[in-house]
Order: sequence, then structure tokens, then C-alpha cells
Amino acid sequence: ATTTDGEVTDVLVVGSGIAGCAAALSAAREGANVLLLTKATKPDDASTDWAQGGISTTRDDPESLKSDIIDASDGTADPDAVETLVANADDAVEDVLVDTLKVAFDEGEDGEFDYTREAAHSEYRILHVDAATGSHILRPFLSYVDDHERIEVRQDTAALELITAEGRVHGVVSDEDPEGHPIYAGATVLATGGIGALYGRSTNPGGATGDGIAMAALAGADVEDMEYVQFHPTAYAGEDPFLLSEALRGEGAVLRNGDGERFMTEYHSQGDLAPRDVVARAVETEREETGAVVLDVSPLEFEAEYPAIAEKCRDRGIEGDEIPVAPCEHFLCGGIAVDDRGRTSLDRLYAAGECARTGVHGANRLASTSLLEGLVWGLRAGEDATGFEPESVEAPELRNRDPDLPDRFAAEKFTRLTRTMDEYLGLERDPEEIARAGSVLRRLKGEVDAYVRTRTTRSLYELRNASVVALLIARAASENTESIGCHYVVDAERPPRA
Ligand code: SIN
Repeated sequence: ATTTDGEVTDVLVVGSGIAGCAAALSAAREGANVLLLTKATKPDDASTDWAQGGISTTRDDPESLKSDIIDASDGTADPDAVETLVANADDAVEDVLVDTLKVAFDEGEDGEFDYTREAAHSEYRILHVDAATGSHILRPFLSYVDDHERIEVRQDTAALELITAEGRVHGVVSDEDPEGHPIYAGATVLATGGIGALYGRSTNPGGATGDGIAMAALAGADVEDMEYVQFHPTAYAGEDPFLLSEALRGEGAVLRNGDGERFMTEYHSQGDLAPRDVVARAVETEREETGAVVLDVSPLEFEAEYPAIAEKCRDRGIEGDEIPVAPCEHFLCGGIAVDDRGRTSLDRLYAAGECARTGVHGANRLASTSLLEGLVWGLRAGEDATGFEPESVEAPELRNRDPDLPDRFAAEKFTRLTRTMDEYLGLERDPEEIARAGSVLRRLKGEVDAYVRTRTTRSLYELRNASVVALLIARAASENTESIGCHYVVDAERPPRA
């Protein structure tokens, strides 16, 4: 069944991290009425709020930033996309973060910004607030867009399906009504974030179920580079992992193995500051061979300079200067393929932030470029998404015959999905295991699809989205037989690096 009843907006933005806020802001600045839909109920439901290290600037040396991004990507980043990012970086940071939102980035005693450094950066060029930069950006950003006269922020509302007709996207069906609530828009910007919930251990919030990527893929949009799932090398190794920012190593913290020895120079000429994928695999190898890896923060004024991280350590009962670490899912480098204005392969559908594949990251992302990419592409997508007339075409009508059952069902299937991803599509991959993951995930998706045909609950749709994205990762991983960046295929050819 289909319907053409529904509400109408000029620009619909889905997602409330930095990319969604930026898209809403720039569309509103162009005079559009914007509806920002988010399933979040609080700021820390968005990954942006969890971002620690900071946001990169060029510090007047764009060529150096470009070459660090390309080197970290194993030479696979798209130079045109990197150019777009770098050419717009400083203006976007100054205009939105410094002038509009008045983010109080840390300053030195001289009153100048205190730039920090993270792995694979050749310069100190990263603006930060303590190591809790994301929340210091997102919270004022959310307040700002919420107060804006042309932006409505609607929380606790999930987009379930895109409304499409003949290759053009006309909005979404949300979960505001049990059988779906159509929202028509001149253009739709997806800014739904990452996929951390697909893995047992992630630095993302639990709602990172790949919703935008799944909806776009199901509507026929091009999706690329899905095998490049980035694992952060230093998350707390115990229960309830949390990130230990690369800024800690950038400022002098070092990795030690179970024998108390430093080991990173054996793996890469940049030692502890090697690209993230290299460090993550080295940490895993040393954990297997020596029993543990710790981040030794004794060279830092840890408590004084990193109070937010120090507090998390105290919460977990970690004492002393050595914090046990292990790699943990962190960021998806691929996603919905977009151009330099966030345009997808479908007319009037845009994507920005982690759900988008801009080409900036190639096979491995450089630290402190994700907030920046979300900001730059969010602004560009929001601006380009204005000026289209909304059209009411027929929207899919969803069914909801048995709303009680699926939550339990969804939780059980989700566990099967995360186990499969952890076991077969993690830091190291084996072609036979990738194939096995593909068949488990295909079966799972078949079961989920059967439920989605008759029931509509958010948890079921999140499971549907996660299973679509998991299959896209499995397919991309099986098609790429070369080890490159964060796609590491055991025993495969690997071009030499540094
Ligand atoms: C970190 O602080 O280590 C993470 C920064 C990033 O992922 O860009």
C-alpha cells in the first residue's frame, strides 16, 4: 500500500552529529526551511559527541596536510576530494566553530591556539578542547540549530525508508506513526553516522547501525569502499571499552607490550605515530605474542591535561600510568558515494559525514579528519540541497501487525550479526572466513526481511539496516583480494609501506 499524505519541508536532514548540524545550518542560511530528524534523544547518541582528539586545520600549510592524508590512506585517497577538504578546512572551522558557535578551543599561555598532533600527522595542527573536542563542538551546535528560526529539530524520530520515484528521492518515511509517517522534501541529506553497533567492541554509540547507508543502498544509491572499516589501536581493553585518543601518543605517551618493551619501531618507521591501521595490527600481534599491550601515559601530565579520559580510567578502576589497550572498531572509511557537494548517485539525495564516502580517506583515515569532513561536506551538501520543489509521490506504507515480538527477536539476531562481524570481518580477514560471513549474513538478512514485511519497530529496522550494511561489507571484502589500508587479508599481497 502507498500514500501521498504527509508533511512537507524544503530540506530534510537525517542525523544530528556535526555533519547533520552543518547541513541544516547551511541550508537555512540559504533561506530554506529545514527539518532535522534524529533518532537521538540526547547529544551523546551521536558519535560526534564522543570524538576526542580534535579537528584538523592546515596551519597555513595545506600541502603538508594533503600529503599526510594521502600517506595515511596508503596512497588510495582521492586527491580531488582531499583538495576539497583541505581548501575549505580553515574557513569552515573559523566561520562555524570559532565565529558562530564560539567553541573555546584550548589556548596556550600566549593566548594563541594550542595545536596538538596525532598519529601520522607531520605537524601540530589539530584544534582541541581537552580531549573531549566532539562534545564541545556538538552541544553548542545543537543548541544553535535548535534555536534557528528556519530549522526544526525533531528528536527520537527514526527515518525508516526513503521515498523514491524514478531515481529521485522525495523524502523519508519516519516512525512517527505505527504504519509510517511520510515527510516530503525538496532534497534529503543523510548524515546518519557510522556502523559501530555491528561490532562487539566499538568507540561509537549503540545507535550507530548504518541506517543511512542501508536506506540509500536499498533505494539503489552507489555505495563504495565498504571493506575499509577502521579499528582504533588504543581503546581500553576491558569491559565497556572507551577511546584513548591518539593525541595522547601525539603528545608523548608510548605503547608497551606484555614484557614492558616498546615495539612500534619494529613495525613502522613512524613508530608509535604510524598510521592507525598499522598500529592497530601491531597492537593485536603483540597482545597475542606477549599477553597484553598498555599505553604508558607517564610522560604526560595525564590527570591535569586529559581530565575527561582520566575520569573514565578512574570509573573503570584503572590505577597507575599503564592503561591496557586493544583495537576497537572506530570508523567506516567507505559509505554512500558522493561528489564534492555531497551529491549521491540518486537525484536530490545527499550524504555527509561518516555515512558518506567522499574519497578523502581511501583505505585508511588520518586522525582528526572526521569532524572536519563532516563539517565541510555537511556545509556543502546543505547549501546544494536548497532550491528544489518538494513533490508528493506515493510513499511506502509500512505494516505493524505485531509490535511486541520483534524487540526480542531483533536483540537475538543482532548478537548473531555482531559475532559474525567480530569473528570474520575484523582487523584481519581470511578469504574463506569472509565467504562464511557472507553466507551467515545472507541467511540472517532473509529472516529479518520476513519480519520487516509485517512489522515496523525501530529495533527491527535498525537490525535490517545493520544486516544490509554487514552484507555490503562482506561483499566488498570478498571482492578486494589485496591487503590495503584497514582491509588486511591474511597472506595476501601487500604493497610495501614506509
Ligand atoms: C582520537 O582521538 O584518537 C580519534 C580521533 C579521530 O578518530 O580522528
